[in-house]
Amino acid sequence: MDKKKIAGEKATEYVKDGMILGLGTGSTAYHMVNKIGEMVKAGMDLKGVPTSKATEEQAKALGIPLLSINEVDHIDIDIDGVDEIDPAFNATKGGGGALFREKIVADLADMVIWICDDSKLVDSLGAFPLPIEILQYGYTQTLKKMADYGWNPVLRERDGKVFVTDNGNYIADLHLEKPVDIQDVKEKLATIVGVLETGQFLNFCKYLIVGHDDGVEVIENAKSIKD
Ligand code: A5P
Repeated sequence: MDKKKIAGEKATEYVKDGMILGLGTGSTAYHMVNKIGEMVKAGMDLKGVPTSKATEEQAKALGIPLLSINEVDHIDIDIDGVDEIDPAFNATKGGGGALFREKIVADLADMVIWICDDSKLVDSLGAFPLPIEILQYGYTQTLKKMADYGWNPVLRERDGKVFVTDNGNYIADLHLEKPVDIQDVKEKLATIVGVLETGQFLNFCKYLIVGHDDGVEVIENAKSIKD
């Protein structure tokens, strides 16, 4: 059983005709987007707001009608993956580098559904490095401020080159010392000028859908920030 596929497809059961959807990014969201493509082909009236250029290309190829974030006044449901998530529904995202658009779309959505396989469930955040989108200008200063807090920032590279996001920025991956005080990190990040957005998605989701070897589990969050 493909754990990412069953989680991604399960989330589409919440989708109703006429909805505007936030289309997430990554290998789990990939399956969800494919399923949405099938639903559109079958005649459903759905529109998507993609969270990355990669998802935009996938959705276009599937014939999913797309809207830009600037054209919508709301998003009904945002469905996206996570890199890790704790029992209080605090998630880290941005492993694929799409965290900024992902957060803008999630923020606008009436309801957020996170999808993942069970390897993403953690007791406390910090196993996965925390991605931070930073401005190219002055990035060494921004990294230094993060290093001064003891966060062990690493400028993300891909194929031997500095990774550049869809928005033209860099990513710093923070290797935080455990135990991580996520509120303290959040507050300090807000004071660093070159920080544009963070991969902390704290208590966003209404539902967490997890793929296991023996099936799919839906966990409801009784108190998401969207309630
Ligand atoms: C993209 O920047 C990320 O936030 C992804 O949503 C996250 O990394 C999950 O991706 P996978 O489903 O590929 O693990």
